[in-house]
Formats: sequence, C-alpha cells, structure tokens
Amino acid sequence: MVDISTSLLSVKKEKIIDTVYKLEDANTNYFHIDVMDGEFVENDTHDIMLEYCEYLDNITKIPLDIHLMVKDVKNFVDSYLIFNPNIITFHYEACKNKEEVMNLINYIKEKGRRVGISVKPETDVKEILEFLPDLDLVLVMTVEPGFGGQKFMADCAEKIKVIKQHATQNLFIQVDGGINAETGKTCTKYGANSLVAGSYIYKAENIKEAISSLKH
Ligand code: DX5
Ligand code: ZN
Repeated sequence: MVDISTSLLSVKKEKIIDTVYKLEDANTNYFHIDVMDGEFVENDTHDIMLEYCEYLDNITKIPLDIHLMVKDVKNFVDSYLIFNPNIITFHYEACKNKEEVMNLINYIKEKGRRVGISVKPETDVKEILEFLPDLDLVLVMTVEPGFGGQKFMADCAEKIKVIKQHATQNLFIQVDGGINAETGKTCTKYGANSLVAGSYIYKAENIKEAISSLKH
C-alpha cells in the first residue's frame, strides 16, 4: 500500500484552510511541508511554512512530513519540533561529512521523531546505503529541489530499485517531484511506498479522485 503526502508548497495563503479540509476529506496520509532557506535552494519558504504548520496544528490531526531543503539542518529541526511532526527529512548534500549525517539522524531520533534522508538528482544513491539501518525514510528527489510543477526525471526513479534491494521491510521509500498517476505507478513498481504530490493534485478537477488515482 502506498501513502500520499500532499505538498502544500503551491497553496496560496488565502486558500490554505479550505485546501487542508479538502485534502483531509480526500484522505491524504500526510501533509508534506517543503521548507526552503534561500541558501540550500534559492527559494525561501520558512515563514510561510511555519504559518501553515500553525494552522495545521489547530485544524487537523493528519501527520506532518517535513522536508528540509536547508543548509543549517539542526536549527530548522528545532523550529519545527513544536509541531510534533511525524517525519523530519533532511538533505544528504547539506552535510559536510558522514559524521554530520549520523549526528543529525541521532538528534532527530532523540527528539522522538522519525527521520529521513533525501538525495538530489545528481547524488549517487550508493552514498547513503550505509545509513539505511538507522533511517525510517529515504526520499528520492525526481526533480531538482526548489519549486513545484517540474517534470519528473525518470532516471532518478531508478534509485528506488537500489534502495529497495538494501532496505528493511519497514523503510519508507518516498519519491518527490513531478508525481502524477503515471509517474507514481512507475515509482511504486520500483518499490516506492510513499509518494509526494503537489501540482497534480491541485490541477485536478477533483482532489479526491486525484489522490485516489495515486493510491491505486
Ligand atoms: C520540490 C518540492 C516538492 C514539490 C512537489 O522542491 O520538494 O515537494 O513541491 O510538487 P510537484 O508535485 O508539483 O512536483
Ligand atoms: Zn518536498
């Protein structure tokens, strides 16, 4: 069974509450919070995502899945802990060395959160295999992190197969970027069990049907 984590990145402020209710009704499994710092990626979404998390905290019990596209990971982890996120994912490329990767994994776990590592398109997935036993999730980026609405990079999805070969049963293999009913199927066929989607859901006439088409 695949779960759907709906990205709130492209939702306008005036529509957020209404959209959250619609997504809840459409059975999204998670809300995917794309945090960008203006350094690791050009865009800066920190303030708006904090605001969205505050709304979510008040109006829904659907778990939060935080995707940190930031350089100073620890600082940002601390800012989002108050919302009790289910998952916090950071980028492998944001770390200076493997020791830092391990320290961050341990830090997030000590805070009682599930932890994920994300890899950008150009990163060789072999680099993170040694961390799999310590992780709850691996996030394979199928677009360059930074903004929504980009085209799915099929080559990157091949990484899912390698992770699947080395993963324990409980590992979440998540894919993010350009996911629609078709590209989502490619990913689940390769072994992904969690799909992040934004544009595909919002462009659809019927949000409920869009989410259900990703689940099947
Ligand atoms: C990109 C973000 C994604 C993105 C997903 O940097 O991590 O979560 O917003 O949006 P779509 O589904 O439009 O690619
Ligand atoms: Zn994301």
